[in-house]
Amino acid sequence: MNPPLPSSIDAADGTGRSGLRRSTAVLVTGAGGEMGHAVLRELAERRINAVAIDIRELDPDTRALCRDAFIGDICDPGLLDRLLASYEIDEIHHLAALLSTRGEFAPETAHRVNVGGTLNLLHLAAEQARTHGRTVRFLFPSSIAVYGVPDLATKRRAGRVREDQFLEPRTMYGVNKLEGEHLGRYYERHYRLLAKDRTPMPVDFRSIRFPGILSAETVPSGGTSDYGPEMIHAAASGRAYACFVRPDTRIPFTTMPEAIRALLELAAAPKQSLSRIVYNIGGFSPSAEEFRLLAERAFPGAEVSFAPDAGRQSIVDSWPEDVDDSAARKDWGWAPTHTLESAFEEYLAPSVRSRYA
Ligand code: SER
Repeated sequence: MNPPLPSSIDAADGTGRSGLRRSTAVLVTGAGGEMGHAVLRELAERRINAVAIDIRELDPDTRALCRDAFIGDICDPGLLDRLLASYEIDEIHHLAALLSTRGEFAPETAHRVNVGGTLNLLHLAAEQARTHGRTVRFLFPSSIAVYGVPDLATKRRAGRVREDQFLEPRTMYGVNKLEGEHLGRYYERHYRLLAKDRTPMPVDFRSIRFPGILSAETVPSGGTSDYGPEMIHAAASGRAYACFVRPDTRIPFTTMPEAIRALLELAAAPKQSLSRIVYNIGGFSPSAEEFRLLAERAFPGAEVSFAPDAGRQSIVDSWPEDVDDSAARKDWGWAPTHTLESAFEEYLAPSVRSRYA
């Protein structure tokens, strides 16, 4: 990556690409993904200047939420240079990733995107901090995929898992997310450890290990917690669904609005109250069978069967039944508002129903 331009070459109109002076922006990678759209909407509501990166052209609704969009690969230094030619970045929401199922079909590509991309963005953040003399905040969605519980008996016994337990991920995605957390800690606390001119804390790294996420607006692709949202969307749209895990399978889930609220609440928390760089957040932990019962209650006539896929089952079996999110509650006041029932009744069922009406 070329060194960024100085922060203000005062001239022209100061409005971004056309002028020489760069405007300050929050960068959102993976902007066209499930979380990206929701984060951009919240930033737009708060009138925050957001600039998007995605591998694909954004749909017009998402594009309208941001000041500018750069289409390309986060591993391409040329793309990041083009971005820095126009914008000074003071906060990054790095949401781009290949999820756990897709990653197993192309592990090396997953590593290149998930770790290589994260490294590029952390470097960009640190260099922005060095140039402008202020810390760049970096929000990183991690995942329950960082956990690797060895077997079902241990999973049942373990119950709510703390942030420091069972960190032996089974998937490339989990390995990559755990590495992303370690890289974040390094860039925040130790970056260029031996340099005489080091910038103290160039990056303010904050991460949440998300459980499976249920969105009423979008269906995820390439993940292994996807059986939850897929079942609901299939039931609402009148399609039969064969669930790829056993009925007794249990992992934690939350809803997309809760996930976005958590990310933005963590972003806004005073740094001195944060005792960790990565936090679990929980929600509810239904079995796949409980999901089916709720889906059938909300959408009478829904046809859900079970056809477990051994490989994907082994991934979900290695994720904990639930997580201990007491650190998030204590440090930044995290308080989930949905129970499984209220998530279905107040958010998922009405919104998914109107989507397919
Ligand atoms: N939803 C992710 C996946 O299934 C886990 O964080 O890969």
